[in-house]
Amino acid sequence: MSDNAKLEFKGEVYELPVITGTENEKAIDITKLRAQSGLITIDNGFMNTGSCQSKVTFLNGEKGILRYRGYPIEQLAEKSDFVETSYLLYNGELPTKAQREAFYADITKHAKLPEGVKNILNQFPADAHPMGVVSATVSALSGFYPEFLGPEATDEVKERAIAQLMAQVKIIMANFYRKTVGKDPIESNPALGYSKDFLNMMFDGEVDDDVAKALDTLLILHADHEQNCSASTVRVVGSSHANIFASISAGIDALWGQLHGGANQAVLEMLEEIKADGGDYEKFIAKAKDKNDPFRLMGFGHRVYKNFDPRAKIIKVACDTILEKLNVQDPLLDIAKGLEEVALKDEYFVQRNLYPNVDFYSGIIYKALGIPTNMFTAMFVLGRLPGWLSQWKELREDGTAKIARPRQVYTGETERNYKDISER
Ligand code: ACO
Repeated sequence: MSDNAKLEFKGEVYELPVITGTENEKAIDITKLRAQSGLITIDNGFMNTGSCQSKVTFLNGEKGILRYRGYPIEQLAEKSDFVETSYLLYNGELPTKAQREAFYADITKHAKLPEGVKNILNQFPADAHPMGVVSATVSALSGFYPEFLGPEATDEVKERAIAQLMAQVKIIMANFYRKTVGKDPIESNPALGYSKDFLNMMFDGEVDDDVAKALDTLLILHADHEQNCSASTVRVVGSSHANIFASISAGIDALWGQLHGGANQAVLEMLEEIKADGGDYEKFIAKAKDKNDPFRLMGFGHRVYKNFDPRAKIIKVACDTILEKLNVQDPLLDIAKGLEEVALKDEYFVQRNLYPNVDFYSGIIYKALGIPTNMFTAMFVLGRLPGWLSQWKELREDGTAKIARPRQVYTGETERNYKDISER
């Protein structure tokens, strides 16, 4: 039996090849459909459209599976660390000891910012949103490293891109935070380890091993999530052969929205709002269910996870551990737990497969670590960087990749004649 799919339209039958992935996922290849039939496909929000073939991350939303390069997220969160996981995502294999050391030495080599970038950072008002600051500063890096601007993604560019961005983005974030609290920046000290160095640059003090480990786990959980809104943005921008800083900066902007990475800030603000309102979370559940009310339960629901978010399971445990370790008694956590309990039993949420996602708990951990609420989404940037870079690298190494250029079904006015302003 042929593996082709058949599409019948107005008596004509069009054969469309079916592509099968390594996890037996099937996709109808419609690349030639328009040339054959004049038809395009339309798919609002790309709900059912594959934009590429990728070897980076496998996700099965129905079964709650997430694997980076084949390795289950549960194993990586337990046994790996963020630097190793980043290497894995970018290079496809876990590093040997020597490769791990060489990779970290590369990150260490780039752990400083040009003076001009420090000056740019200093010009932002202290109340600027960190996402705008990080995005603009990453874009500004292109002005300082012209060697990245050529149309080719050379081996040198690919090798340096991940080391440099992993080193510099965390300095940009920590330096800006220090400015917002009126303190001088602290030099990066990569010898502390990736996550500990970041916390040290933020808070300048002894960083507890368990606290650094909790952050490292969070970063691993956020490191990639296949073709989500921001990764797709990185690929779309990268497909025009714009430079890596432009592509990553665009990804940061896409992540900013509340329906995506901005949810972690929105979750905490929602919990604060419920607390300020007297803690009656049932009232907010009713609001979320009311079709005339735009309110949504932040941190609930996911485009692809329709059973459970495997990252949320891991993060919930990390959350309990860290709150106990830091001896945090946070009333917001009780509200979060109450919300979760009620929503998981409520018919509205059950019918629509709405479960807590990774960001429902990440904000509570960030808060316990002392990270300000408006910086939560930037923390997501730190985690997602290796994923974006890996998606970008894969795109640039794919000889068949084309510039992203969707089509549309036009629903506007048909042709009409220009009227002079006096006749309108
Ligand atoms: N609260 C209340 N109702 C919801 C919620 C929610 N959080 N999420 C979805 N719904 C309802 C919708 O109203 C819709 O109901 P209907 O069928 O009666 O019209 C149904 O569930 C399906 O919702 P869609 O918006 O069509 O689902 P989609 O897959 O497009 O959206 C999204 C997914 C954006 C994540 C959505 O669930 C949401 O807005 N969640 C809150 C924001 C959030 O937590 N985002 C973080 C996502 S994870 C991440 O990016 C890291």
